[in-house]
Amino acid sequence: MDQTIRFGISLPGSLLSRFDRLISFKGYSNRSEAIRDLIREYLVEGEWEKGEKETVGTVSLVYDHQKRELDKVLTDQQHQHYDSIISALHIHLDRNNCLELVVVKGKSTQIRRIADRLISTKGVKYGKLTTATIGENLS
Ligand code: NI
Repeated sequence: MDQTIRFGISLPGSLLSRFDRLISFKGYSNRSEAIRDLIREYLVEGEWEKGEKETVGTVSLVYDHQKRELDKVLTDQQHQHYDSIISALHIHLDRNNCLELVVVKGKSTQIRRIADRLISTKGVKYGKLTTATIGENLS
């Protein structure tokens, strides 16, 4: 198991006060846990920028399934990347609108390419890539 190391941080009091108020609002019980989460977030962001390691992301898509045969078009696109798309969840929001959550695994550059393709498909009302991590080396 990883050894825990204590270290000090110097920062302006007003900045610390704002930080303390925010982490309390968010429900953190102490600064250490909040700072650990910030560091993990920063490391994951770095992984996505470098694009060397395998990672995972979720693409959210909202569209009207009756328009432009969008359900078929989006399914075809996903089949083209069946080796990277590890799961998809389809939710019927109302009579016309659908929410599709597509989980993509691979190098970040490839995930972004697939996400951009899905999101830019004509007729998609809303699309967003949410970056995540496979959790390796994030103790
Ligand atoms: Ni639907």
